Order: sequence, then structure tokens, then C-alpha cells
Amino acid sequence: MSEADGHPGQWVDLCPADAVEPGTARTVIIGDHPYAVCNDAGRFAVVDNTCPHAGGNLGEGVVRAGRIVCPWHRYEWHLATGLSFAEPFPRRLRVYPAKVEAGRVLALIDGNSPNPR
Ligand code: FES
Repeated sequence: MSEADGHPGQWVDLCPADAVEPGTARTVIIGDHPYAVCNDAGRFAVVDNTCPHAGGNLGEGVVRAGRIVCPWHRYEWHLATGLSFAEPFPRRLRVYPAKVEAGRVLALIDGNSPNPR
């Protein structure tokens, strides 16, 4: 339990905030798990790097208006909820609580995401 935030899990340092340009995402691997750090006009989000549709690399996606656009088939995933805008899709993109501290992007990573698949 992270006492400061009231969530189970641990805040993990993923990368410098200035390493992710606005409108882009970047893949960061922690352990053996790839995450996509997203910069939506200065607001940061962290999601699973692997697109739930067919495995696209979301770290190469475009980020805009609270969404990340998968580079493979252009599904758009809501960064707050993990829902797809493209069409009703049975799986959500996994979303992690994120914050920036001292110029670093951190995510609350545990085995119990708010959006379990
Ligand atoms: S793999 Fe991402 S939209 Fe198809």
C-alpha cells in the first residue's frame, strides 16, 4: 500500500517527462512489461504498450485530446478509462495512475489495475 496515495502498489519511475514530446508516446519496459508513457499536451498518462485489439505498439502512437491512436489500425483508446472509441470492443486498454514529480513520470504499478482485462 502506498500510504501517500491510498492505493495498493508502488510508484515506479518510468522516464524523464521531457523525454516524451507532446502528442507522442514512448515505450518503457519495467521488468519484462512494456508500458506506453503518453504526453497529451503536457498531461501525462501511462497505459499498457500493447494494443488490446491486435498487439500494436502504442508507444509509437499519436496522443491527442485524451486519447492514444494505435499506429496499426487507428483504434483510439481513452487515456482515462482505457475504452475504445473505434467501435465497441470487449477489452479495455489497461491504464495506470500516473504523475510527474521532479521532472520524472511515475506510474502506480501493481497487479490490480483499475481497468483489469
Ligand atoms: S492493433 Fe491497435 S488498433 Fe489494431
